[in-house]
Amino acid sequence: MKVSRRKFMGYAAVTGAGVGLPLCLTGRRATESVSSGLKTGKPVPLPYEELGKFLSKEQLRWHHESHYGGALRGFVKLDQGLFGNQRQRIAKANSVLLHELYFENMTAKKQSVEKTMGALIKKRFGTTDRWLEDFRSAAKSCRGWAMLAWHPVNGKLYNVATDSHDDGLACSGVPLVVVDMYEHAYYLDFQNRKGDYVDAFTDHINWAAVENRLRACLT
Ligand SMILES: [Fe+2]
Repeated sequence: MKVSRRKFMGYAAVTGAGVGLPLCLTGRRATESVSSGLKTGKPVPLPYEELGKFLSKEQLRWHHESHYGGALRGFVKLDQGLFGNQRQRIAKANSVLLHELYFENMTAKKQSVEKTMGALIKKRFGTTDRWLEDFRSAAKSCRGWAMLAWHPVNGKLYNVATDSHDDGLACSGVPLVVVDMYEHAYYLDFQNRKGDYVDAFTDHINWAAVENRLRACLT
């Protein structure tokens, strides 16, 4: 799978020329239609009140208001200046974007992997179950963010685990499935049962949203 030079340069621009902003959504969507607090300075609302038996209203609201909202407020403040705080500014931006992708890619009702995504997973991992096994292992091994990412240079999928917001290398791909592995994402509902949270997350992936992200990469 090849990526045009124009598309890749667009990607590089969005990602901060190698610094590693993880929005990384190529082409049209990256520049025009992504709804993000990075553009408006205002938080993108939660798309749901609760997620059935997965995550409660209290867990989601607290996470959204305190952590996502806090990251956005921090980014807006840091982004008022051009110089200094580069590392902190990127970390806040990454946190904002990854939270937005995370909140968007969950759903109360179980969905099936859609056509384009399913084909790419099968090509790379053999079966969806094999991908799931590897993704769950990656998520349980980290305390920051776990993602299924698409790389714009070779077109391959990678499961990625990071322990921070500013791991530029790990975030150089396009995040397609994103799970927040910081304790604040699950502790109210799952306490120290990290593995149960990961397993429940993979039963609540919004595959329609993931399919849209992948299609934005491929068009
Ligand atoms: Fe979070």
